[in-house]
Amino acid sequence: MKAPKLKETSKASAPAKVILFGEHFVVYDRLAVVMAIDLRAHVAVKPRRDDKVLIRSNTMGLCGEFTFNGNCKMIGTFSDSVKLRPIYIAAKNVLDLSGARVGLDITVESQIPVAAGLGSSAAVSVATTAAVGNLLEMNLSRDDIFKLALETERIVHENPSGVDPAISTYGGVLAYRRSKGIRELKVNIDLPLVLGDTLIMRNTREMILHVSELRRLYPEVLDGIMDIGDLVANLAIKAIESGNLKALGHLMNINHSLLYAIGVSNLAIEGLVWAAREAGALGAKITGAGGGGCIIALSLPDRLHRVAEAIRMAGGIPLVVNTTWEGVRIEE
Ligand code: MEV
Repeated sequence: MKAPKLKETSKASAPAKVILFGEHFVVYDRLAVVMAIDLRAHVAVKPRRDDKVLIRSNTMGLCGEFTFNGNCKMIGTFSDSVKLRPIYIAAKNVLDLSGARVGLDITVESQIPVAAGLGSSAAVSVATTAAVGNLLEMNLSRDDIFKLALETERIVHENPSGVDPAISTYGGVLAYRRSKGIRELKVNIDLPLVLGDTLIMRNTREMILHVSELRRLYPEVLDGIMDIGDLVANLAIKAIESGNLKALGHLMNINHSLLYAIGVSNLAIEGLVWAAREAGALGAKITGAGGGGCIIALSLPDRLHRVAEAIRMAGGIPLVVNTTWEGVRIEE
């Protein structure tokens, strides 16, 4: 095999996301509206002399060495390689595409809370894909990066819609439908959002399976709820494009009630949603798979801090987040 062209080092980053409308329903080809936020996952890659892939995640405090065939030896006190495998798969997908057999040292530093519904694993996959592609001088386009990161998600998760790797790749605010792909939305206003983290780690796969089981039992009911979710997301796009924050808040509350109906809310989530609403939020809802993780509250700018404080008093960790327009990027 001819020696591949390689850089000495390569770095990339990709943003976290909040789903504004349509989580879960998007798995069943309904419309979702999603926004990239100003928390990023950073991935640095260097070639090695052997063909192993060593992955260090400073965020998760994990380190593991994968053979080229995917066997993992964990280094340090933790024995669980499950959390590192998606990063190995993302890198391996790019290596396989290039045909190169190169070992890699991969270091992940992420500002994104893990298992909180903010797309941390997709952001890491997207940044890894871009960093490895850049190391191998492959000139991957954003569409290539999205497709490769979606492959990784497919191997790792149960039936992912692709919305998470799409927003981490393209950034901004997107309308996304599984069968049609992305549409970038024109947004001329700030969307002042407070995140509230319940600090309950949840498992996307389990939540997707829960919804699929409910749909198996009550197909007409679930399809009806999802059709309303689609309508709500369409109206939300109009509200975003016309800058109507009040309507957006109403629609967020309606979307939350649909997620409650399909059983992905819980007491901790309801506590934060209601605390935010009572403190003057225009709307509040689950963001992501639910079962824990985060809520988002839309608020007028002069109420943001009051809403954040109410979330804290209700036991959540608040964070004011902003839209980021930049998706995946190579860091020089
Ligand atoms: C996860 O961020 C959002 C879900 O809709 C799953 C998916 O779209 O793949 C729950």
